Amino acid sequence: MKPKGEELEKAKRNAALEAVKHVENGFVIGLGSGSTVAYAAEEIGRRIKSESLNVKAVPTSYQALMLAVKNSIPVTTLDENPTLDLTIDGADQIDKNLDLIKGMGGALTREKVVAAASKKLIIIADWRKKTLKLGENGQPVPIEVLPFAAALVIRRISTLGGKARVREGSGKVGPVITDNGNFIIDADFGPIENPAELERKLKAVPGIVETGLFIGMTDIAYIGSPSGVEKLERKK
Ligand code: 5RP
Repeated sequence: MKPKGEELEKAKRNAALEAVKHVENGFVIGLGSGSTVAYAAEEIGRRIKSESLNVKAVPTSYQALMLAVKNSIPVTTLDENPTLDLTIDGADQIDKNLDLIKGMGGALTREKVVAAASKKLIIIADWRKKTLKLGENGQPVPIEVLPFAAALVIRRISTLGGKARVREGSGKVGPVITDNGNFIIDADFGPIENPAELERKLKAVPGIVETGLFIGMTDIAYIGSPSGVEKLERKK
């Protein structure tokens, strides 16, 4: 059964509110991208006003920057703050090890950089994102590539067993251009048996800037449903 839009929004919001409880006065945070993070930005903005909370955020995309501006969250850069206290971000799929597929919003490279700069990565997602194996149900792995290398990367992905295509824009003809001026290739590998190995192999292909496989990076995930939130923690 298809979730009603309202229930889905409630689930996203529930997950976001739990994550924002981790934000403390004086924190410098990473602000992820996507529709679930929009609820987190709203809540951070509310706490800045109501508690005079002093926080700054490094946005992971132009969309995240706009969320920060809209919610009066002061922004900063990794140059000024190379270590972040925590990052709150969304995901497209999450497995039991808290490994992720990210990047359906096309912001995966900056998201991964910001996550790597963070002491803690908190993922917020609605219940539909939980999966047994990454890559199930036709979920592709988004991969950011240099436009110059797109044809080579597509060939190499096919030798790794994936079906790849350059992502096309919906408000524009031709390819989606990322915030970094690159293309996104969506690569369908089917259910992925060993995501860490696939990540290693993809990162060895010249022209691949970054992949949407986030392996061993998540500390906590809040999985929202319309009636509550499930907390998942990475086993150390
Ligand atoms: C963008 C992402 C997003 O976090 C991911 O697509 C989830 O988005 P949403 O919360 O809208 O479902 O990885 O690159």
